[in-house]
Amino acid sequence: MPEGSALRTSAPATVPRASVVRWAAATFLLAAATLVVALVLGHGAPRSEPAGIPTPGAVTGWGLPVIGLVANVAGIATVGLLLAAVLLVPSPRGELTGMCLRASRAAGWTALVWAVAPLLLVVLTVSDIFAVPLREAFSVPLLSGFVRETSTGQSLVVQSALALVVCVLSRWTLTVREGALLLGLAVATLVPPVLTGHSASAGYHHLATVSLLVHVVGASLWIGGLLALGWISVAGSRRLPDGVLRFSTLAAWCLATVVASGVVNAAIRLGGVSELFTTAYGGLVMVKVAAAAGLGLLGWTHRRRIVPGLARRMADDRLDRGAAGRAFAAIAAVELTVMAMTVAVAVALSRTPTQVEDELVGPTTELLGTELPPAPSALRLLVGLYPDGVGIALVGLAAALYVQGLLVLRRRGVEWSPGRTAAWFGGLVLVGWATFGGLGLYSHVLFSAHMVSHMVLSMVAPILLVLGAPLTLALRTLPGPRVPGEVGPRQLLLSLLHSPPVRLLTHPLVAAGLFIVSLYAIYFSGLFDVLMGHDIGHAAMELHFLAVGSLFFYVLVGVDPGPRRVPQLVRFAVLIFVLPFHAFFAVALMSSDTVIGATYWTSLDRPYRTDLLDDQYLGGGIAWAMGELPLVLVLAALFVQWYRSDRRDAARHDRTAARTAAGHDEDEALDRYNTYLARLAEHDGVGTPARLGDSPEPSVPEGKG
Ligand code: HEM
Repeated sequence: MPEGSALRTSAPATVPRASVVRWAAATFLLAAATLVVALVLGHGAPRSEPAGIPTPGAVTGWGLPVIGLVANVAGIATVGLLLAAVLLVPSPRGELTGMCLRASRAAGWTALVWAVAPLLLVVLTVSDIFAVPLREAFSVPLLSGFVRETSTGQSLVVQSALALVVCVLSRWTLTVREGALLLGLAVATLVPPVLTGHSASAGYHHLATVSLLVHVVGASLWIGGLLALGWISVAGSRRLPDGVLRFSTLAAWCLATVVASGVVNAAIRLGGVSELFTTAYGGLVMVKVAAAAGLGLLGWTHRRRIVPGLARRMADDRLDRGAAGRAFAAIAAVELTVMAMTVAVAVALSRTPTQVEDELVGPTTELLGTELPPAPSALRLLVGLYPDGVGIALVGLAAALYVQGLLVLRRRGVEWSPGRTAAWFGGLVLVGWATFGGLGLYSHVLFSAHMVSHMVLSMVAPILLVLGAPLTLALRTLPGPRVPGEVGPRQLLLSLLHSPPVRLLTHPLVAAGLFIVSLYAIYFSGLFDVLMGHDIGHAAMELHFLAVGSLFFYVLVGVDPGPRRVPQLVRFAVLIFVLPFHAFFAVALMSSDTVIGATYWTSLDRPYRTDLLDDQYLGGGIAWAMGELPLVLVLAALFVQWYRSDRRDAARHDRTAARTAAGHDEDEALDRYNTYLARLAEHDGVGTPARLGDSPEPSVPEGKG
């Protein structure tokens, strides 16, 4: 896109307002009709009870799914408008201007609707649960009791409050960086009802909840992004092609994520393939599969037929831009109508009862989300599986993103060290084993296995992950600016890396402090018992171990760029400083005569390794023994890095001496780097890039090691 056209942002509107209103009304009616049909077919519609049995009435029965649909659509629109403003449509100089500013302001209005809808759902749910007519549900004791005592009530109120914050902050959001934070908050607002809804009470609830979360986030970014671009195409903007090109890649990721997570969630809820054909829930799932296939086809048509022509027409002043915008809007309108109907089916699905729900009985199954496994054996520990949603999502996403980065580098002909790739995937295999593998399974059942999993997540896998240089890969492959001064994904990542919180966290003493303090704080404060007893608590603990371990080893042996350079000797000293605290922790575990997590282990009531203190002693011994492993790995990594940097320094001195002798005064390295920037810019579609040394444009920093 030529620079001039990027700065002139408005273009004539491409579609008459009356057509848009007609399309919106038709889509609304189609979605409402789909909702009613799906509710009736799925037995989720209100039923007439025999006389004498109290019922909440038809207003509540139909109001719940309708307001549920409104809440979904408002959330999707808010996320999509912010996504378009921050990441899809380019903003020169990193400021939200033109359509980007209008999109962010519009997100404020949709967020307001999003804030009100959950409150209406609270009243409707009270009417439904207590089987009282809607007007009687407006009672302070009933409403406050519901919000205080049920997780559903609390999650709806939290969602409403978060949406209100998004609404208010959107008024003051002026830059892309602020918009990115707001987008993060909007995505977080999707979370609360998912954690307490249908899936949270299902068998395999660890996996059901996370798969639904991934599903909802993926669907919201996908539908919302398209909705926002459709709105922008109707309003007429010269920045549309850039937005559509970037969205096209994101949409492919979203489709894959939505289908994969939808299939996982449906499999859990159905319990078998035959239920697809024999139950109402299965029938609705089949409708969604067909819708996903249709949407995939429409998306593919967009990508092949419309997107290239759109970019050409918009870039060329002699061609009819309005026609290009109209062609995009026409397919987007069909896609959005199918999406709205699919969301209506989804809302009906969430109110459709399933067989599996009724089979989840017993305190053990409720705690684990699955049956208690038999006594551990080496084979079971090695090849067992556990439905840990967080682990599966984390490893799947991390592997897919890394592979995508490698593919981008390969297309550009840039080499990447196989050692880094091996380290990254080695680390992911360990994370998988410790979360959803055999070790993950028994980490919910035995303290000793939990301790091995903890050590793997915080002390072994992170070393390999940070040696995989994921940030360097991301900085080399993430999209850069499309117009001068744009804050693209690469610049956002750089800003994050150099932000004050990251500077603070990567201080060696802070990283080491967090690593040590969290050991004592979790196990010797009673927190462990609470965390083990809840899905979110256990997932948070796993993520915490991995995050704190990765931070600590990023500071010690990381090869990625960072806000500060820590001398080799200081890194070694930090490791030596930390190890005794770790050893004290292990000894304290072994010598304690109080069972840590006693409530959890007792309610699990396992028939093997019943001596809880003995198992804890074993766990302490494992923690002690495994503390030595990182020492060896880190020493080896530090030695290799020191040796390499020594050789690099020597080679640099030799080159400088040779250049001086030959009278060369141009900077070879600078030229090579400028060629690299030119290749990147060519790929990103920017005209002539700023050359390093010519202007203060941000540069991609070198790795540390
Ligand atoms: C292979 C295709 C798909 C399958 C198997 C699938 C399956 C599911 C399942 C099982 C649920 C959980 C319902 C419950 O709580 O019981 C769900 C929810 C949902 N799905 Fe899908 N889905 C698919 C495609 C889609 C598509 C293409 C979209 C959007 C365009 C979509 C949007 C949603 C939304 C928004 C929800 C949350 C509804 C709510 O809780 O209010 N799904 N899906």
